[in-house]
Amino acid sequence: MAYPQFIAHLSDIHIGHSHARLQAAFLLRNQLRQHKIDRIVVTGDITEHGRTDEYATFQDVFAEFISDGRLIAVPGNHDRLGDNIAQHMLQGKRVQKIEYPGLCVIAVDTTGSHNRFSFLGHGALNTEVIDEIESVAASVAPENFVIVALHHHPLQQPEEMFIEKVATFFKTPIAKELQLGKELIQKLGGRCDLILHGHRHFSLETHIATVARALHVYNAGSSTELFKFRLFTLDGGKLSSDPVWISCK
Ligand SMILES: [Fe+2]
Ligand SMILES: [Fe+2]
Repeated sequence: MAYPQFIAHLSDIHIGHSHARLQAAFLLRNQLRQHKIDRIVVTGDITEHGRTDEYATFQDVFAEFISDGRLIAVPGNHDRLGDNIAQHMLQGKRVQKIEYPGLCVIAVDTTGSHNRFSFLGHGALNTEVIDEIESVAASVAPENFVIVALHHHPLQQPEEMFIEKVATFFKTPIAKELQLGKELIQKLGGRCDLILHGHRHFSLETHIATVARALHVYNAGSSTELFKFRLFTLDGGKLSSDPVWISCK
């Protein structure tokens, strides 16, 4: 069995936010080129305003990884704004199973129609989608490495940004975790190795021990704000060590 060896996780690129963010995207792309990376997972907020031209710029910057099928991207709440480029991602599905030798990525769209308004940035997850994710995970051969990629955080994360504190004060759930996030994690226990997400721009990691296999939840934070991405190393279909940060500054 051929397993992937190196998997990179980026998130919240926000192309269209500023020239600085675009420059950071180029630096990240250059750093990805320096490593032998089998798969690149980008967990949403690809664009700042959900515009077609912003998405085209993202596709240009990361063209070499998109054209050879190495890059997998899921939509974030910002991708629902403007031209709603989110509708063109994951072929319009809520859950997409993407298979490679020794690896299955379950790409999940946690955005909703409320995300057409920028102040309503929180995610959406319902029991039907959780059941679909669970059934896809159950269909994967147990020796394969399984990643669930989604934008919004399934577990509570402290408020770090001023805007998040203001939003919470006004009872806007922008910084709130997915309503059924804990249920999702419970269902994936023993069937999944990594949950990768973004949305909150500061990175975080949580490790959940289960009897069958450990489940790790990683928030990449905003890669273009932090100027770094995580690199996971696998050996024979299992994580061989803790991931490392690769800086592009
Ligand atoms: Fe974001
Ligand atoms: Fe977001």
